[in-house]
Amino acid sequence: MDLIPRLVALLGEDAVQTDADIIASTLVDHRKLYRGATPAVVSPRDTAGVSKLLAFCTEHGIAVVPQGGNTGYCGAATPDESGRQLVLSLRRLDRIRRVDADNFCLVAEAGCTLQRVQEAAEAAQRLFPLSLGSEGSCQIGGNLGTNAGGTAVLRYGMTRELVFGLEVVLADGCVLSSLSPLRKDNTGYDLKGLFVGSEGTLGVITAACLKLFPAPRSIATAWVSIPEPAAAITLLSRLRAASGDRVSTFELVPHVALDLVLRLVPGARDPGTSRAPWYLLVEVTSPADEDLAALLESTLSEAIEQGLATDAAIAQSGTQRDDFWGLRETVPEAQRRAGGSLKHDISVPVAALPDFIERGSALVRAIAPEGYLVAYGHVGDGNLHFNLNQREGTETGAFLSRELPLKRAVHDLVAEFGGSFSAEHGIGRLKVGELERYAQPEELAVMRRIKQALDPKGILNPGKVLRAD
Ligand code: MLT
Ligand code: ZN
Repeated sequence: MDLIPRLVALLGEDAVQTDADIIASTLVDHRKLYRGATPAVVSPRDTAGVSKLLAFCTEHGIAVVPQGGNTGYCGAATPDESGRQLVLSLRRLDRIRRVDADNFCLVAEAGCTLQRVQEAAEAAQRLFPLSLGSEGSCQIGGNLGTNAGGTAVLRYGMTRELVFGLEVVLADGCVLSSLSPLRKDNTGYDLKGLFVGSEGTLGVITAACLKLFPAPRSIATAWVSIPEPAAAITLLSRLRAASGDRVSTFELVPHVALDLVLRLVPGARDPGTSRAPWYLLVEVTSPADEDLAALLESTLSEAIEQGLATDAAIAQSGTQRDDFWGLRETVPEAQRRAGGSLKHDISVPVAALPDFIERGSALVRAIAPEGYLVAYGHVGDGNLHFNLNQREGTETGAFLSRELPLKRAVHDLVAEFGGSFSAEHGIGRLKVGELERYAQPEELAVMRRIKQALDPKGILNPGKVLRAD
């Protein structure tokens, strides 16, 4: 079959891109772990176009790899090296279809950037709370497909919890549409929950009805020096109680990460608190007018008196708040600039994190002496990016050779703690083997049966989440 002319006839010339220079960036994942090939990047202009494309691809057995902003960490949006998988870009489905302030919802198409969704909510005095470092370029369809996490999960939940309904195109082109803001609809299986986090392997999400919240009117943000991770857990409980559970961000940053950021990220500003082994970025928000800075100050002063913290600075301006946030959000960039890194996106029950850090650090010292630990992240969710960077003066080959034994040891430790080897970045292509190893066999069998039922020809993102047959 002459594929390209058939696609052009189906969707129009402007929807089919084959120019190697133009499509090059779509063939490499964000972390540059994979480099794929494709006959074309197809960008339908609407849901009907996605439907036509998938029906055509199912009929002819052509694999399709959906792609949003291409900011994922596990290679879920990258085609394989065969050169036979089409890339389906959702970028032209970029309308906010509706903002409904009274029902606290908005309907956005998959190709809207997360930032546009946040701004549309803000314009209606509402909050869409999903918040990620890549929000200017990641797309809401990708956030939904991967069930993205971010820095407000503690208060608002993962992306799955922020969805009223979805519009999804199935492999055969059939469109499931459920975009109403019903808070109660107890009719049968939770289909939307199935598609969120399925990484494009069960259907292609083209639009979503998203939950909004009252816009915050009061915000207080602090950068806190703490002596050890255990102090973070105690402080979190105290602050949750003292604030009426209005802690929206509670992020852990080790000294070594702050140091990397201050050295390597242009414009990063020292928070001004005394040096400590660990720091917290803490934010409390409220939709009412309240003095949250006073609340933070009294809780943190008490913590300092009791030795739970050694110093704290409360942001005195929007600029200082942005500076604190910048220190946390640019840790991944600083790690990249520092050279090769090994990453583990783990979670354990929140209160077990200090023990996990202690035992995990011992593993790092024993297995990967060429690396040093940069463990940071969403301590309020029990989720750490348990990452390593290479020590200066060590052999890159030796450092990288530790990847597999260290991954096995860290993930085994995670399993011992009853945790997850992929807390927020999904499975993609990178962690298919880990899922096979750590998921219960019964769970895996159900996943395979669902995949078979919804995509019997295996055209949707083959080899991602589950191994392709
Ligand atoms: C973050 O929390 O900064 C991101 O999930 C990125 C990372 O894992 O490094
Ligand atoms: Zn993260």
